[in-house]
Amino acid sequence: MEYVIEMLNIRKEFPGIVANDDITLQVKKGEIHALLGENGAGKSTLMNVLFGLYQPEKGEIKVKGKEVQVTDPNVANRLGIGMVHQHFMLVDTFTVTENIILGSEPKKGATVDLKKAEKEVAHLSELYGLKVDPRAKIRDISVGMQQRVEILKTLYRGAEILIFDEPTAVLTPQEIKELIQIMRALIREGKSIILITHKLKEIIEVCDRCTVIRKGKGIGTVEVSETNPTELASLMVGREVSFTTEKTAAVPKDTVLSIRDLSVKDSRNVQMVNNLQLDVRAGEIVGLAGVDGNGQSELIETITGLRKADSGTISLNGKPITNLNPRKVTESGVSHIPQDRHRFGLVLDFPVGENMVLQTYYQAPFANKGMLKYKDIYEKANALIEEYDVRTPSVYTKARALSGGNQQKAIIGREVDRSPDLIIAAQPTRGLDVGAIEFIHKKLIEERDKGRAVLLLSFELDEIMNLSDRIAVMFDGQIVADMKPEETNEQELGLLMAGSNQQKAGDK
Ligand SMILES: Nc1ncnc2c1ncn2[C@@H]1O[C@H](COP(=O)(O)OP(=O)(O)OP(=O)(O)O)[C@@H](O)[C@H]1O
Ligand SMILES: [Mg+2]
Repeated sequence: MEYVIEMLNIRKEFPGIVANDDITLQVKKGEIHALLGENGAGKSTLMNVLFGLYQPEKGEIKVKGKEVQVTDPNVANRLGIGMVHQHFMLVDTFTVTENIILGSEPKKGATVDLKKAEKEVAHLSELYGLKVDPRAKIRDISVGMQQRVEILKTLYRGAEILIFDEPTAVLTPQEIKELIQIMRALIREGKSIILITHKLKEIIEVCDRCTVIRKGKGIGTVEVSETNPTELASLMVGREVSFTTEKTAAVPKDTVLSIRDLSVKDSRNVQMVNNLQLDVRAGEIVGLAGVDGNGQSELIETITGLRKADSGTISLNGKPITNLNPRKVTESGVSHIPQDRHRFGLVLDFPVGENMVLQTYYQAPFANKGMLKYKDIYEKANALIEEYDVRTPSVYTKARALSGGNQQKAIIGREVDRSPDLIIAAQPTRGLDVGAIEFIHKKLIEERDKGRAVLLLSFELDEIMNLSDRIAVMFDGQIVADMKPEETNEQELGLLMAGSNQQKAGDK
């Protein structure tokens, strides 16, 4: 039999929505099969059906030609199906090995044989080039490493078919390169992979075939060698998508954000921001480029009040906002599209509607003398959902039930709509489909043209080059270069980000 996995005519409904409507996906042994579709198209749902987390209303699943009922994830594991989720499910205080064996511990008499498990984990890590330390604690390792632990977890349970749900969205460019190597090693050892990604370049680079779904319906499967990003984009969106953003030259006005001599330590007391200077003016987009871990996150957390500065000043329109609490920073005119949308962006168990006014619900017109005016809240929310194309059955749906990309669009809508003086956008398009990226880029440029100051943090050099009016390169806690995109190129940026050619900042 040619196919290891066949999902035939799958239908899965949620209240108010058909997430999968007659979708067919057939995966060949030894291939990397891309699953492509807009935000909310139904990709994660389809994979959750395959992994036994959801039961389909209709349709059939076959593994190696044999019909199966995947009633829960344990059954999926026994059938050789493993899944690496969009959000990891690891216990922070446990070691790598403890996490991996959780639920299928090897026993030696009545006790768990941790030594044996560590050996096995080390062996698997070696075989696939994962470079994971079996004894490290989860909280001490990077996100990229945590993802590898999830991969090891599936392999340890004997996975033959691995499902990756947007694995590269949380990775840095270097980590993405390594993950691609790992996927190739998995294929070499006879595994098959289903890969969800919004990055068309990745599909072209590593996938053999690609199945496209749109609004819950199957559009078809194409051979990757016979297609290109433009065709893939229009298959998934149903229209032409432009990959570069048209914009006029910026007309910067007064300085909005001004940072002087800022120093910040992280929770382990390591100096992350080191005597940093940065200005962002009204009417310009400043792109913060850098390799993850050079202080960008700490810088943004400090501006937005989530972290304390050790020394230095941050001012907004000339007024100090250093070390104010997040609500005060917000009220003084700062919007924040946070990197971690689950920790800082949304209250997952609140309805979408209430999430749309998270910073303003206690003020007019949403509240009067301490009473919330739900009619006004939901009216506003509906307008934002419409404008930002947040796909949700209704404003009453819990944020948790939205697809990853639609959660992101909801946050962006809320933050941009508050008409702030400064928009801090940290990886605003993470997890968004190409159509949504195009839309968000246009929005940010529109806001710039209305005179807002925009500080953009992105690990995608394409995005930095496309959107920024000025690029500030951050290395080792400092801005080491400050230049216009037309004065540089990706090659030079890469070098600056790696810490070479440091005199550039002083040159100008
Ligand atoms: N547990 C749930 N309860 C209710 N609705 C849900 C649930 N999970 C998903 N949905 C809805 O099903 C649809 C498909 O969502 P899904 O998460 O599969 O999209 P996706 O293709 O993975 O999108 P993204 O690229 O944004 O991650 C969405 O409209 C979503 O709101
Ligand atoms: Mg998804």
